[in-house]
Amino acid sequence: MSKRQIGVIPGDGIGPEITKSMIDILEAVGFEADWVYLEGGLGAVEKGLPSMPDETLARIKELGIAIKGPTTTPVGKGHKSANVALRQALDLFANVRPAKTMPGVHGHFEGTNIDLIIVRENTEDLYAGIEYQAHPDVAQAIKVITRPGCERLIRYAFEMTKKQQRKRITAVHKANIMKLTDGMFLEEFYKMAALYPEIKADDIIVDNCCMQLVTKPEQFDVFVTENLYGDIVSDLCAGLVGGLGLAPSANIGAHCAVFESVHGSAPDIAGKGIANPSALILSAVMMLRHLGEYEKGQRIQNAVLAVCEEGKFTTGDLGGKASTSEFTAEVIRIATS
Ligand code: NAI
Ligand code: MG
Repeated sequence: MSKRQIGVIPGDGIGPEITKSMIDILEAVGFEADWVYLEGGLGAVEKGLPSMPDETLARIKELGIAIKGPTTTPVGKGHKSANVALRQALDLFANVRPAKTMPGVHGHFEGTNIDLIIVRENTEDLYAGIEYQAHPDVAQAIKVITRPGCERLIRYAFEMTKKQQRKRITAVHKANIMKLTDGMFLEEFYKMAALYPEIKADDIIVDNCCMQLVTKPEQFDVFVTENLYGDIVSDLCAGLVGGLGLAPSANIGAHCAVFESVHGSAPDIAGKGIANPSALILSAVMMLRHLGEYEKGQRIQNAVLAVCEEGKFTTGDLGGKASTSEFTAEVIRIATS
């Protein structure tokens, strides 16, 4: 049988270093793939290409799956964000971010068992980019929510909840104020909930949700929400479990899925061999689950958790002294023992 082809965008800064670590670990546990390396980010721009070249997009469309390192976007000038281009071109409508307590990672909620997933809409809402200024002193932005947009996102969230045998899904909204837009989102949520009687479905207003998250985060299971609330709430959740350094994500579309770490290209530590590859490794674990490779994914996840908990081979961001390759070697040792 020929090997499965998977697109890889190593990206910028620490991207290539953590990508190597991630692929070494996947191969060590016996996951075989034909890695199709693709251009994207500042590296592509420096070669005179767009930040997300058409060829890269076409290849991912063909392959249906890719994993991506972080890409650098200059602030306020220069090229369009490679990520925005990727999400738009491939219509990656759902952004999925788990937030789970990591043993050995210090923070305000050490000892609390947080294990939640945020499913965020990724293409609509105030991020549709429709802004105008009809008067020098008045600027407006339009919030776009469509019924099909709600439906596909919410369906994905319920299916994921069911597949992962989770018990509860909570819609996050502000429908008390935005009665038409968020009202439509909520209406579609409860329509879908009726098709999944085994899952407990409820809803919460976004401000109360934030308050509950910083007081009693362990009560939640799965969130489904619009773009803007999801952007903010998912960073909040990453903060609850030790920050962006460990946070993985998946971008899901009807025909493609792209997995990536939540953190950026960390130019301040690039090339030093000290980056923590955990977020990209855990993104690869999400990819393995997406491909039905549950056992290999679980083995890798357990090994990453064990290395973090033990603390002897953690990288500098977690208070350790290990290099990226020392951390990687220890994950491989545990995952294959
Ligand atoms: P950043 O996440 O790259 O870095 C923030 C801080 O966290 C830095 O001190 C960095 O050293 C540290 N850090 C991040 N990841 C780490 C890791 N794996 N191991 C150890 N330390 C780590 O965020 P920043 O500085 O705001 O952005 C840098 C560049 O990354 C920008 O060009 C930005 O546009 C881009 N970016 C790209 C993303 C993507 O491709 N998905 C996401 C976020 C930012
Ligand atoms: Mg954000």
